Amino acid sequence: MKKTFLSILAALICMTMVFSMTAFAAEAAPVSTVEEGVLNIATNAEFPPYEFKEGDGFAGIDIEIAGAIAEALGLELKVNDVEFGSIIGGVQSGKYDIGIAGMTKTEERLQSVNFSETYAIGVQVIIVKEDSDIQTADDLVGRKIGVQQDTTGDIYCCGDFGDENVTEYRNGAEAVQGLIAGKVDCVVIDNEPAKSYVAATEGLKILDTEYVTEEYAICIAKESEDLLAAINGVIKDLQESGKLQEIVDKYISAGEEAEEEESK
Ligand code: ARG
Repeated sequence: MKKTFLSILAALICMTMVFSMTAFAAEAAPVSTVEEGVLNIATNAEFPPYEFKEGDGFAGIDIEIAGAIAEALGLELKVNDVEFGSIIGGVQSGKYDIGIAGMTKTEERLQSVNFSETYAIGVQVIIVKEDSDIQTADDLVGRKIGVQQDTTGDIYCCGDFGDENVTEYRNGAEAVQGLIAGKVDCVVIDNEPAKSYVAATEGLKILDTEYVTEEYAICIAKESEDLLAAINGVIKDLQESGKLQEIVDKYISAGEEAEEEESK
């Protein structure tokens, strides 16, 4: 009797091992990447709290999501910090595996690359000096607008208010410097970086009106369908396990979100 029990137990253990090994193999099914064993991401680390430089390295929500993706796929993470406007071209030409940079999924960009499932929501907001007479997006007509070049803020403002009224800066921090120096009357940029710039600078505020709401997603070359599927799988796991929220909470404090809800 004891013997039968032991052999059943042994068989069960063996079965569990085989099952878990197959599960592991399915999850870590090798995806082809630009460099074997490495996930090369392109980002623009001028966009806190999504990506920014920290010490010799990089930190932020996107960097951690990319780290979790690399880990789940059994790859080593390599961060390439490039101009925002060169991310899509670099992914398209096979220089990088993915672009993750608080990047908005747009119809136009979808002509060149694929996008993963949405992992965050972004809102284009307007930063002005505290004493500005600009109150809503309609007041931007005829005013000087600062943006980060090649971002959706840049594209929308050029379309809505004319290229001649838009000054393109290399990054959001420089656009904010332009606002402080009085070179532009406002800065149009994504809400989270806007909050971190305004918190770090005296005399600025974010207008209550939201200009455009958008979805952030990871861009991947059109032909890398296996990588796209693998990444969507990891995003789903990160969402379902609460890990994604944990990463967001680490960089965007819950207090801040509650404050935002209250002011709505
Ligand atoms: N969401 C905007 C866009 O997709 C701005 C993103 C800028 N990201 C950055 N890492 N600089 O155009």
